[in-house]
Amino acid sequence: MRKKIVAGNWKMNNNKRETAELIQALKPLNFSTDVRVMIAPAFTHLVQAEELTQVGRIEVLAQNMNASESGAFTGEISAGMLHSIGINKVILGHSERRAYYNETDVALKQKVETALTHDMEVVFCFGEELDQRKAGTHFEVVQTQLETALFDLSASQWSKIILAYEPVWAIGTGETASPDQAQEMHAFIRGLIASKYIQEVSDGVSILYGGSVKPANASSIFSQADVDGGLIGGAALNADDFTAIIQSA
Ligand code: PGA
Repeated sequence: MRKKIVAGNWKMNNNKRETAELIQALKPLNFSTDVRVMIAPAFTHLVQAEELTQVGRIEVLAQNMNASESGAFTGEISAGMLHSIGINKVILGHSERRAYYNETDVALKQKVETALTHDMEVVFCFGEELDQRKAGTHFEVVQTQLETALFDLSASQWSKIILAYEPVWAIGTGETASPDQAQEMHAFIRGLIASKYIQEVSDGVSILYGGSVKPANASSIFSQADVDGGLIGGAALNADDFTAIIQSA
């Protein structure tokens, strides 16, 4: 049975001390065994985060990685490097990576393959932009993103995939998809996977919602049948807010 997951994407926030403080504030947190909690600090703090979370159930993931194994890619981090410090999960395809660093679904397909070669779990982000939602093409857009980046995977590889539907118009804007809009898209995504693979694969994949999730709206979104938790940006930087969101899962 798929798990609920609440993952905090800390983006380019927090220095070393602030990162440690936030982790310490989250550590006493008690959450259901049906829920997984993840945090994604900056690359520079992953070692520290891994050490600080050795005891407890908080999992640490990276915000990105390169598709290549090694080589002349100044400023980049490989899957093998992450693995060597005990990190075996990564966010790929976040809309900010797509928008500011030109990451395409074709490039992301390669990153996903590299991550899986290293036995890493992938939180794969995707979602439509505002003009696409307004034009009514959001289902098509999402379908193309998933088909291009993920639908060449084998059924068994899907056990390492976590999906994060993040409508770009809802990220960091304070505007959230309504619970019905989230459910409608998540059900569509699950249907797509079921038609490409088998129902068992589709039933097993956790599909998170992301985009302005806050303590006030988390439970109404998370209670939707096909919403299996959330990828949280801004609200994950505040221990009380993130705790309240985890407790809504
Ligand atoms: P937000 O970010 O919660 O601040 O909207 C979500 C995300 O970027 O994953």
